Amino acid sequence: MSETLTLRHLIGGEWVGGNNSLKSVNPSDTNDIVAQAPADDGSAMNAAVSAAAGAFPAWSGASPELRSDVLDRAGTLILARREELGRLLSREEGKTMPEGIGEVARAGRIFKFFAGEALRRNGITVDSTRPNVEVTTYREPLGVFGLIAPWNFPIAIPAWKSAPALAFGNTVVLKPASLTPAIAAAMAEIIQEAGAPKGVFNLVFGGSVAGNAMVKDPRVAGISFTGSQSVGAGIAKLAVERQARIQMEMGGKNPLVVLDDADFDRAVACALDGAFFASGQRCTASSRIIVTQGIHDRFVAALAEQAAALRVGDALDPQTKVGPVASEAQLETVLDYVGIATKEGARLVAGGQRLKLAKPGYYVSPALLTETKPDMRINCEEVFGPVASVVRVKDYDEALAVANAGEFGLSAGIVTASLKHAHHFRRHARAGMVMVNLATAGVDYHVPFGGTRKSSYGPREQGAAAVEFYTVMKTAYTSA
Ligand code: UN1
Repeated sequence: MSETLTLRHLIGGEWVGGNNSLKSVNPSDTNDIVAQAPADDGSAMNAAVSAAAGAFPAWSGASPELRSDVLDRAGTLILARREELGRLLSREEGKTMPEGIGEVARAGRIFKFFAGEALRRNGITVDSTRPNVEVTTYREPLGVFGLIAPWNFPIAIPAWKSAPALAFGNTVVLKPASLTPAIAAAMAEIIQEAGAPKGVFNLVFGGSVAGNAMVKDPRVAGISFTGSQSVGAGIAKLAVERQARIQMEMGGKNPLVVLDDADFDRAVACALDGAFFASGQRCTASSRIIVTQGIHDRFVAALAEQAAALRVGDALDPQTKVGPVASEAQLETVLDYVGIATKEGARLVAGGQRLKLAKPGYYVSPALLTETKPDMRINCEEVFGPVASVVRVKDYDEALAVANAGEFGLSAGIVTASLKHAHHFRRHARAGMVMVNLATAGVDYHVPFGGTRKSSYGPREQGAAAVEFYTVMKTAYTSA
């Protein structure tokens, strides 16, 4: 056990305390309270939006080099502290230390990437259709962005929302997830240390009351949200009503297709990684594994064996391959869905049990369900835990049809040696991201991220695409 941190909101460059009613608990050891933080009743959010609005004119008017330098320094500081922050992240969220350290490094790289992008906020010059007239476009910042982040990537996602917002001249209010306030506070502290002027970046802890205050505030020009589909749809409605910009990332039910001609070991490795690493708590997790009949039985046997062999344990133990899930509620959801699936006729061939280990935590063994049908609830609803279901199909055509069914469309993967099928899948999978001979999860930080249908709404996140959401285009006509 380590100390319990006492966290404060960051508003206008000042750390502001409160009721400390929010507690973050170590999911590997529920006796360990990682942090206590205030839960806002809306007043801190109001003050944070005021601070962000006040800081906007100077920040947006500053040289892009100044913004670039702040982001670059933040990236350097995050990378330098990756071990310590990775440990804090793993202690608070429950992913393993290599996963935690890897995520912190990713956050650092994101800041560095957007330090470069800050200098590339460019437009185009076009010949007008009229003589002696020139047309120029500019990309301009909008003002205050409200960012609502989930607990499953508690520094990478705040980074990939904050860095582009700041790079292009906006100011930010971040509301991190209530399960993971400590790692968000560490990022906020670093952004201040990197030289962000007061009010440019603000942090407010709280639940839906704080979130609603942000979404309804007319001074917030845009909302970027990552979380569940139902919460996202509610936020979108409120934001659109007052014509705020929205960017929503809302989960998936991502298919991984395994064809008869797949490299066998690679197929098993992709499924194992995609379904169970990070305890399956990724919106990109490979939760539906669609397998053609020639390879099915051998594949399922190997996957069940390897899933059962994954060592579940304390996230901070170097022997651990799969940490706990993040909360009691997540654990209950996992067990509920395993029960629902078996009632509907699925066979549980590995895991799906709550584990009692030396320390009290939210431990569950990775669950593999076979003989599932595409329309069972387990194949339609996001579980967000270490649970995968297998659907047996005849051939590639049936695999594609099953992969494309359902409401979500975030990531889709195929493991095959066939160029023809790989190419066809890339073009016909109904998803925002397609992976060939890779797990559906695990994305780069410098390319667009997002899905189709119920998975995403609004412009893409990350990479060069991020500029779309965080700037507005102006078209200027000039006559000689
Ligand atoms: C990844 O697969 O590396 O919440 C990232 C999530 C996604 C991020 C996934 N927004 O799981």
